[in-house]
Amino acid sequence: MTMPHDIVISPSILAADFADLGAEVADVAPGVEWVHVDVMDGHYVPNITLGNPVVASLRSATDLVMDMHLMITDPRTYAPQYVELGAESITFHPEVEDDPIGLVEDLRTMGALVGVAVKPDHPLSSVVPLLDHIDMLLLMTVEPGFGGQSFRADVVPKIVEAAAWRSAHAATFRIEVDGGIDPGTARTVAAAGADTLVAGSSIFGRDDRPAAATAIRTAAEGARGPEGRRA
Ligand code: DX5
Ligand code: ZN
Repeated sequence: MTMPHDIVISPSILAADFADLGAEVADVAPGVEWVHVDVMDGHYVPNITLGNPVVASLRSATDLVMDMHLMITDPRTYAPQYVELGAESITFHPEVEDDPIGLVEDLRTMGALVGVAVKPDHPLSSVVPLLDHIDMLLLMTVEPGFGGQSFRADVVPKIVEAAAWRSAHAATFRIEVDGGIDPGTARTVAAAGADTLVAGSSIFGRDDRPAAATAIRTAAEGARGPEGRRA
C-alpha cells in the first residue's frame, strides 16, 4: 500500500487581480501550500495570460511553491526558463511535445517536480507511458483555457483509474485536479483519489481567501479513505 499524500491546495491566480498580484498571493498564503500559475500562449488555448517577467516578480513576492501549469505549444523552450526563475513544479500538456519523457527527465535533473496534464476528453491511456517518470498527474476537470467553468463530473472515473494505477504500480505521483473545484466537488475528487486541488474562482472570488481554501481542504480531507480514496 502506498501512503496517500497530504491534501495540497493550489489557488489559481487566474482568478486574482493581476494589477495587485503580490498582495493577492500574500492574502491567500496563510491557507495554502502552493500557488497555481496558468501560462497560456494563445496557441494551445485561445487565451494569453503571462510569461517570464510575471513569473520572476511572483517568485520574489512569495515563498509558496510555484505550481506552473503550461498551456503552451512549446514547453521545451519555456519550461526550463521557469525552473531557472525559481518555479518548483512544472506541468505541461505532453501531446504537444515530441519527446515528453525526455523533457520530464531534463526538468527533473534541473531540480523541478514535473507533472503532465490530461484534458477532460483524453484517456488515461494517452499518458500511461509517462506515469513511471512523473511527480504529478494533472487531470483537467474543465477544458483548459478559462477560469470559472463548471466541473466535468465525467472525469471522475479517470481519477479513480489513475489512483488505481498508482496503487497497483506502487507509484507516488500526486494526482492534481484543476477546474470547477469548490468544497462540493473537492469531496468528489478526493473520494476518487485526488490529493492536489487547484481552485481559482472558489478561492479568489471570496472575501476571506484562507477560509475558502480551508473549506476546500476540510471537505477533501473528510472524503478520503485510508489509501487516499474511498474503498
Ligand atoms: C483553466 C486553468 C485553471 C483555472 C481554474 O484552464 O487551468 O487553473 O484557473 O479556474 P476555476 O477554479 O475557476 O475553475
Ligand atoms: Zn491550471
